[in-house]
Amino acid sequence: MTTADAALATRPRNLLTLGDLPPADLDHLVARGAVMAERVAAGDPELAGVLRGRVAGIYFTRTSTRTRTAFSSAALRLGSGLISYGPGDLQVNTGETIADTGRVLSGMLDLLVVRTAGPVAEMAALAAHPRMAVVNAMSAEEHPTQALADLTTLQRHFGRVDGLRVLYVGEGNNTATALTLALNRYPAAELHLRTPPGYGLPPGFPHVNERHDMDDLPADVDVVYTTRWQTTGTTKPDPDWRDVFAPFRVDDDLLARWPDAIFLHDLPAHRGEEVTASVLDGPRSLAFAQAENKLYSAMAVLEWAGGARW
Ligand code: CP
Repeated sequence: MTTADAALATRPRNLLTLGDLPPADLDHLVARGAVMAERVAAGDPELAGVLRGRVAGIYFTRTSTRTRTAFSSAALRLGSGLISYGPGDLQVNTGETIADTGRVLSGMLDLLVVRTAGPVAEMAALAAHPRMAVVNAMSAEEHPTQALADLTTLQRHFGRVDGLRVLYVGEGNNTATALTLALNRYPAAELHLRTPPGYGLPPGFPHVNERHDMDDLPADVDVVYTTRWQTTGTTKPDPDWRDVFAPFRVDDDLLARWPDAIFLHDLPAHRGEEVTASVLDGPRSLAFAQAENKLYSAMAVLEWAGGARW
């Protein structure tokens, strides 16, 4: 363990928003996700001792294929016990407060991974107790663990994050918010956002290069990234929203502008909407490797949040 790693090894650590994550911790989590991928591939038997004796809770009130499985698998691979709560399981459904729920769970769990449709502030109420680390596995405003997996994907593919040029095309949703917060931490990284009019990032982001059209696209990019037009758990009030989004579809013609760029998608995808099948399933798409990286990134997050030594 290096001195810097030792300084990180105090527990527990909450991951509620990337806006609160110190740059050194972001660097650590991105690099550590790549290390976890290598350790899993090598069958490292020491992984099973990382969280031995700990118990993690997984509380998802919204659907999930990747994130819930990634964190559940990560907890088990690191030797943690695991309790999984679905949307109807906790007494919050019968009126118990989030604050009381967090207080009770913190006496029994070491880690809690949470997905809700509510605000980060709701998770902060769960995280008010020092014995239990809380990880935001997607909230209304932000999807921080998606961005960590995305950056781990970049780290594994390019060997770096800083200096990369990323073009994000699509809604300014919680994935875009997290990606923006993460890439803004890298001084030489470029993020170009092209979001449909009326569907941009929330106001207040400093240093954001965002436009609401597909004109004058950057000459060179390393990554083209899009997300599903219907973000999980949300609906759009405008009945004509598909017309507004149509120019922002990623197809072969768009990708052909940057012959060396890779394509990323956080999934789930709707082929024919935000991306054509030829792009998503094509040779430049890392979308399914990106999904697998959610496991390795989740292992890094749980190790970090649990304050385990490495
Ligand atoms: N990208 C993502 O968060 O996928 P799930 O909704 O399946 O977890």
